[in-house]
Amino acid sequence: MNVLFVASEVARYAKTGGLGDVSAALPMYLRRAGHDVRTFMPLYKTVDGKGANVVPLLRDVELRLGPHRYTFGVFVAERPGDAPVHLVDCPALYHRPGLYTGDPDEHLRFLVLCRAALEVCQRTGFSPDVVHCNDWQAALLPLIIQTRYRWDRLFEKTRTVLTIHNIGYQGTVGPHAVRDAGLADSANLFHQEQLKDGRVNFLLHGILYADAVTTVSPTYAREIQTPEYGVGLDPFLRARSSTVMGILNGVDYDEWSPEKDKLIPHRYSAQDLSGKARNKEELLSKMGLPNVPGVPVIGIVSRLVGQKGFRLLEGVMPALLRRHRVQLTVLGSGERRLERMFSAWVRGFPKQVAFYRGFSNELAHLIEAGADMFLMPSLYEPCGLNQMYSLKYGTVPIVHKTGGLADTVKLWDPDTGQGTGVSFANHDARAVQWGIEAALGLYADRNVWRRLMHNGMSEDFSWETQAKVYERVYARVVGGG
Ligand code: ADP
Ligand code: GLC
Repeated sequence: MNVLFVASEVARYAKTGGLGDVSAALPMYLRRAGHDVRTFMPLYKTVDGKGANVVPLLRDVELRLGPHRYTFGVFVAERPGDAPVHLVDCPALYHRPGLYTGDPDEHLRFLVLCRAALEVCQRTGFSPDVVHCNDWQAALLPLIIQTRYRWDRLFEKTRTVLTIHNIGYQGTVGPHAVRDAGLADSANLFHQEQLKDGRVNFLLHGILYADAVTTVSPTYAREIQTPEYGVGLDPFLRARSSTVMGILNGVDYDEWSPEKDKLIPHRYSAQDLSGKARNKEELLSKMGLPNVPGVPVIGIVSRLVGQKGFRLLEGVMPALLRRHRVQLTVLGSGERRLERMFSAWVRGFPKQVAFYRGFSNELAHLIEAGADMFLMPSLYEPCGLNQMYSLKYGTVPIVHKTGGLADTVKLWDPDTGQGTGVSFANHDARAVQWGIEAALGLYADRNVWRRLMHNGMSEDFSWETQAKVYERVYARVVGGG
């Protein structure tokens, strides 16, 4: 199949979170399965083509979006065995301090991405069977294809799949978005009441017009159809519930496994865990914490935003740190309040807590490899990748039982010796405290802990399996089902 895959970030070139990992891995695995997949993302200022063969494909293409005019070019980055990544070059839009902005033209930045992808199809004669749109940034594509590009036989058979990675980000813009999308003639196809209220919700229009809607775990697919998790879009998802499907993300074990990881100092396996102990020493020394044998290390690697649930720790962590011999290594950045919370613990517990504020792929891998436990108290979690990485690294996850966390972490059962981690059902301070103390209790029993690590390490969430599920979805929409 010919697949056009459009996303706002693709790891290796630009990444803020799990969408980047998925957009790098899924196209690659689909390509290995024989499909012609072409990925599109913006050429942000920070994109580094190192390790790829980057060639120019188009330059100086003029694009009108309502009253706005842009000129863009396209480079193609190719790596052996990987799907080509098309980098849309439009410095006026993409040379900003971060990948995402709160700027008034944020929607235009991603409309240009979408339109550039279609223009490249036309100029290269690529007729996509499936356009795979990721998150709000690409969610208007189904409508754009069905209207503005309808005349072009190239897209006659094109079907669309929308994947929702996070319903918390919907891309809500004023009514001028209709014109900016070049859809003034099709204003009647937008949600009329919202338009009257002066709103255009990009993600909603993906839900309305894509041929299939998927999200990134079965539990999240159910959750977002409820008012509690749907962030206002649940009625629309319920209306299309027969096409809404939860497909768990996979893991690229070439990048994220202790046997193959090129970024960690010591590789190891379930059969020989000695490398894990050495990675732990390395982690502690790098983070400036003392290495005290027998003291467990809890790791956190995260965007520091409300979704991730760290506010639950505010009231309980200091007492836990006083009461237990435990260390905490944190990597992340985001909301000031959360950054200040972790910084305050570093000051209050300098031998127990270390916080690296920022983004570091290398440190993320070292924390996975060197920590004993991995904490994700997320309020909601569409899928979550770090808990799956943690399992493979023998780093026992402590998670709130929601979304993909509920689908991937099984609570330890002392009677059967089954289970891969600790999960707690309620989202409150007592529950997270219970979760952490339960994990500390299990850690104290070496045999139990070893079993837990082994159980987790033998789980398999590989993309080989998950990419096949996407192939079936593609086949279904192409077949008209
Ligand atoms: P989300 O996409 O909501 O951020 P995921 O668990 O799906 O959550 O994916 C997060 C990804 O981003 C993981 O690969 C994780 O290692 C990475 N990550 C998050 N924060 C950082 C950071 N500060 N430095 C390096 N990697 C990070
Ligand atoms: C989102 C979600 C995360 C998911 C990732 C990739 O950022 O927050 O749970 O794993 O997308 O699908």
